[in-house]
Amino acid sequence: MIEFQNISVDFKQKKGTLAAVHDVSFRIEAGEIFGIAGSSGAGKSTLLRTINLLQGVTSGQVLVDGKNVTKVRGKQLREHRRNIGMIFQHFNLADNLTVYQNIAFVLRAAGKSRQETDEMVRKYLGLVGISEKADVYPSKLSGGQKQRVAIARALIGGAKILLCDEATSALDAETTVSILNLIQTLSKKLGITVVIITHELEVIKGICNRCAVMDGGKLVEIGGVYDLFTKPKNSYTKQLIGYTLGHDLPPEVLKNAEGLLVKLTFRGSKANTPVISDATVRFGVQFNILVGRIEYIEEKPLGVLYVNPVGETDAVRRALDYLKEVVKEVEVIEHGRI
Ligand SMILES: Nc1ncnc2c1ncn2[C@@H]1O[C@H](COP(=O)(O)OP(=O)(O)O)[C@@H](O)[C@H]1O
Ligand SMILES: [Mg+2]
Repeated sequence: MIEFQNISVDFKQKKGTLAAVHDVSFRIEAGEIFGIAGSSGAGKSTLLRTINLLQGVTSGQVLVDGKNVTKVRGKQLREHRRNIGMIFQHFNLADNLTVYQNIAFVLRAAGKSRQETDEMVRKYLGLVGISEKADVYPSKLSGGQKQRVAIARALIGGAKILLCDEATSALDAETTVSILNLIQTLSKKLGITVVIITHELEVIKGICNRCAVMDGGKLVEIGGVYDLFTKPKNSYTKQLIGYTLGHDLPPEVLKNAEGLLVKLTFRGSKANTPVISDATVRFGVQFNILVGRIEYIEEKPLGVLYVNPVGETDAVRRALDYLKEVVKEVEVIEHGRI
């Protein structure tokens, strides 16, 4: 469990101070895969770094497993850091060491024997799926393979917490998915808590259970990922996830839209309900389907459908009332001519 209690971090600047993190409080439960989203400069990295004390706090405290870690020093600090692995956007591997050596040095530095180190390194190379790369230098690896090495290095000391700072931001979409899958598997297998910070919401959607959103150093929203993506409360969150009207509509559709444009958002099991054909049969209203997509967040479906109802004004009104009332989880947003 990681708990931020009124964390503020100020940086002195030429003119005054910059509140990089301002009075942030929330909790991350043990075993969670927790996301922190926000634009560049929101304060995500600064907040994350207070967990392993790469960054000191101006005020507030960070509790890890109930213990205030903000002031630990010396031996206690080294023990605390051993409990926390961290990975970065640019992998931070030592170019002059092989994959094996990059990982092994963590254990050698901790005083493990050569044999114990060897067993552990082989085991972790296997866990991250790069056993055959043991004797290769980082320059010969793909980005995804480098991040696998970094993950093995971060966890081999027995870390119970993995901090990921934009860990997939330098990777292509396919590799991102494979790394996220690996993190998810390791989290389960090794029982570790994962904190992922990213400016890419697809990452959060793909792997996190809960998520916090930061803007200008402040926590603006926190909640379950499915709720956050389907019912964002905060205006910045809405903007961040492109919840505004027509964001997911191709411009040519918007340009050519005539009459009424209706956005239907289907959540959970209702994503598969035949409400449109029901409404057509009941009210004699035709629906031109402009754009439709369905995606899965936390394995629950979210469907978005833009339709243009065509029919007698009164029939259209009744059809829309039907859509709003009969199927409670369908959200109908009406817009006049655009
Ligand atoms: N060590 C530092 N010294 C001075 N300013 C910093 C330092 N680290 C971060 N900042 C500033 O604090 C703000 C938040 O930065 P950061 O936490 O890196 O944001 P994010 O990770 O969300 O992009 C930014 O304006 C950044 O320029
Ligand atoms: Mg950052």
